[in-house]
Amino acid sequence: MSIDTRALLYLVAAVAFILGLKRLGSPRTARSGNTIAAAGMLMAVIVTLVDAEVSWSILGPGLAVGALLGGFTAVRVQMTAMPQLVAAFNGFGGIASALVAGAEFVKADGLELPTETMISIIVSVLIGAITFTGSFVAYAKLQGLIGGSPVTFPGQKLFNGLLAIGVVTAGVFTQISQDPLPFWIIGAVALVLGVLAVIPIGGADMPVVIALLNSLSGMAAAATGFVISNSALIIGGALVGASGLILTKIMTEAMNRTLGNVLFGGFGVEAGASGPTGGDVTTTTPEDLAIALAYASQVVVVPGYGLAVAQAQHATREVASALEAKGVKVAYGIHPVAGRMPGHMNVLLAEADVPYDQLLDLDQTNNLLPRTDVVLVLGANDVVNPSARDDAGSPIYGMPIIEVDHAAMVVVIKRSLSPGFAGIDNPLFYRDGTRMLFSDAKQALTSLGSALEDV
Ligand code: TAP
Repeated sequence: MSIDTRALLYLVAAVAFILGLKRLGSPRTARSGNTIAAAGMLMAVIVTLVDAEVSWSILGPGLAVGALLGGFTAVRVQMTAMPQLVAAFNGFGGIASALVAGAEFVKADGLELPTETMISIIVSVLIGAITFTGSFVAYAKLQGLIGGSPVTFPGQKLFNGLLAIGVVTAGVFTQISQDPLPFWIIGAVALVLGVLAVIPIGGADMPVVIALLNSLSGMAAAATGFVISNSALIIGGALVGASGLILTKIMTEAMNRTLGNVLFGGFGVEAGASGPTGGDVTTTTPEDLAIALAYASQVVVVPGYGLAVAQAQHATREVASALEAKGVKVAYGIHPVAGRMPGHMNVLLAEADVPYDQLLDLDQTNNLLPRTDVVLVLGANDVVNPSARDDAGSPIYGMPIIEVDHAAMVVVIKRSLSPGFAGIDNPLFYRDGTRMLFSDAKQALTSLGSALEDV
């Protein structure tokens, strides 16, 4: 294949990546975006393999095993386990980049490499190895293989800082001497650093860490692209690096946290960490709720993490369809960090074939709420907590919320008064206009569906 043909095909692949990413920005176009980007990646892989005249006897079995494992895992994975799967993919991506770059150093066998190649190799090995072990610690925390609580020890930050200085020094030595020993030290220390950077972070903050590790895996791939002069790898890696960083920023902003606070703050108590502060609540029943809903003209559903836990997406859709059959308008208010992973609620509701045009973002929902008769809060807590708006002393103060208290009537379906991810009480539950329906979300919605048949 001529250099021009290869460059042209890589360019087509890069355009496919960019188009795919752009289409991932909306639930309506996300599926086709994914297909376009995947087709671009397949094309880049084929061009590289054809061009490199690889040894198929070695590569073929590797490809077959990898494709089988990847396909099998992706098909079988539960939606709630998606962050773990992404963590594993990031980890493998990081180590693959580090190994390819490292192989170039080994291949040189003492011959002096150009400065820019050597720097790219060191960057790739360093970031790739950190991403590898960091991602698998994140995986283990989310999968419950190790405890999710932060693991800290005295002087941890100083120790990590010293390791980081050590690894940079080893990098400079490798660059000057092109000696293998400091090079291997970089790889080994980076593997340790990946573990040490992630263990002090609470399990509940892992989705943010995974977005950051995703970005790092992209940066490692881009660095490797420079090492082997592969423009598709450079472009693809840069896109992953940039989009991972943007996602990290969106997530931390939507939680009103800084990245530093996530990485070093030891935040993230899992649900149930602290009890309610007290106060009287007004409860309701599926039968009473069915009447209120059936006579409403606009209903907004606000889903949260509890909806995912209860797997109540199909029951939600059935209730919405029953209401629509009665002439009630139904919309869904999606907070950017509702649930535990980016797009969690969109994916769940898409599974139940909820029409995309009924999914409203934070601002659209808040505009609609003053004209809403009943808002149904389904297993959501922090994302509808008015303390974030009203209480300057609250740990979540400043986090944008869905202002459900602006609707005429609020009904919260959850099992108890237990707090959510942030571990804090929610004054919404004790308001005059709020009704609590204490139940598992799926059970409550199933009963509601039956009650609606009689209204
Ligand atoms: P949360 O505030 O975590 O509240 C979830 C609620 O669901 C709990 O209070 C729980 O109450 C209820 N629940 C659990 N199982 C249930 C079931 N089977 N049926 C009904 N309810 C059930 O959820 P949220 O409002 O979605 O907020 C998400 C939180 O996660 C935010 O603090 C956000 O910052 C954080 N976070 C999000 C992300 C992303 S990217 N989405 C990443 C990291 C952190 P009961 O136990 O009383 O039922």
